[in-house]
Amino acid sequence: MNIATTKPLLPWKIRFAMSILSAITYTTRRTNGTINRRLLNLIDLKIPPKANPINGVTSSDVVVDPTRNLWFRLFTPSSNSVVTASLPVILFFHGGGFAFMSPSSITYDTLCRLLCRSLNAIVISVNYRLAPEYRFPTQYDDGLEILKFIDQNYTVLGEFANVEKCFLAGDSAGGNLAHHVAIRISLEKLKVLKVIGLVSMQPFFGGEERTESEMRLKYQPVVSIDKTDWYWKMFLQDGSNREHEAVNVSGPNAMDISNVDYPNTILFVGGFDSLVDWQKRYYEWLRKSGKEVELIEFPNAIHAFYYFEDLPETSQFLSKVKDFIAKQMVNEK
Ligand SMILES: *[C@@H]1O[C@H](CO)[C@@H](O)[C@H](O)[C@H]1NC(C)=O
Ligand SMILES: *[C@@H]1O[C@H](CO)[C@@H](O)[C@H](O)[C@H]1NC(C)=O
Ligand SMILES: *[C@@H]1O[C@H](CO)[C@@H](O)[C@H](O)[C@H]1NC(C)=O
Repeated sequence: MNIATTKPLLPWKIRFAMSILSAITYTTRRTNGTINRRLLNLIDLKIPPKANPINGVTSSDVVVDPTRNLWFRLFTPSSNSVVTASLPVILFFHGGGFAFMSPSSITYDTLCRLLCRSLNAIVISVNYRLAPEYRFPTQYDDGLEILKFIDQNYTVLGEFANVEKCFLAGDSAGGNLAHHVAIRISLEKLKVLKVIGLVSMQPFFGGEERTESEMRLKYQPVVSIDKTDWYWKMFLQDGSNREHEAVNVSGPNAMDISNVDYPNTILFVGGFDSLVDWQKRYYEWLRKSGKEVELIEFPNAIHAFYYFEDLPETSQFLSKVKDFIAKQMVNEK
């Protein structure tokens, strides 16, 4: 195995940031299977919403159910050019192995601002409860609750939001969530909200088997095998293994979705993401189930490349999503 196939060419600043992120998960995990949240809160810096426009985006937090800590951060484009438009709504689920991060973490606040500004869309960044304190299926239930709340209370999104043009989106564990929420929402009777597309960013899927990309990239930060095994262990109920339908979504325990009204999907994968083989199986499975899905592969991209606005793949990603959204909006007219 030569070094070129296991290590991407990246600026040192990015390699450094990724190793810090990796270190955070190591230092806050305890041997008894819990997370030191107090220590984590010191490292995972949070920022409040900003009512005044910054770079053309305003944000506010909307509480859905304080007893379950259900809330979302709402990002709205503030530039004058969009004032008369009806804007698509993107429901975004953040990554972090089901156990880390929140819409107020700097990384995700920044990413959602970027999505809002570049895509000219209302972005809802969902706060769901985290593992291991809350395990499967809490995260999926929370996602569904937020969608139902918006279906009934869409006026909180402001007058420009068009909830008949909703997109689900998510990265990593958030991509897993977006997939499962898409299936669940298709079984609900909603009043106005309509999901017309799914933006899947390097979704977190797995299985008991070790794929070629997991073996080849086992020392990549953030999604090395020991980390992903640990995330699944904290997320799943005791007694389940990675053959669970939440994890091995295209495996033998998967639900038959051929009759599910699954949204048209655009799937982003990276050549240096150890999860890439699982993501491609998801792609094949969606196609076999008769779903419309487009696979976009960035050969040099690592897991979570979109954290870095300066990477060329990030601007390519944004322009692909923009085209995808425009296409779905026309289809649905
Ligand atoms: C795990 O360890 C921490 C710190 O030692 C302790 O506070 C916590 O109660 C333990 N949790 C369990 C479930 O054993
Ligand atoms: C919509 O908002 C009202 C008032 O805040 C609340 O009572 C209701 O439960 C909300 N709907 C959902 C589905 O959460
Ligand atoms: C999981 O699902 C895949 C299909 O994508 C299958 O090939 C694999 O054998 C399944 N089970 C395990 C043990 O990974």
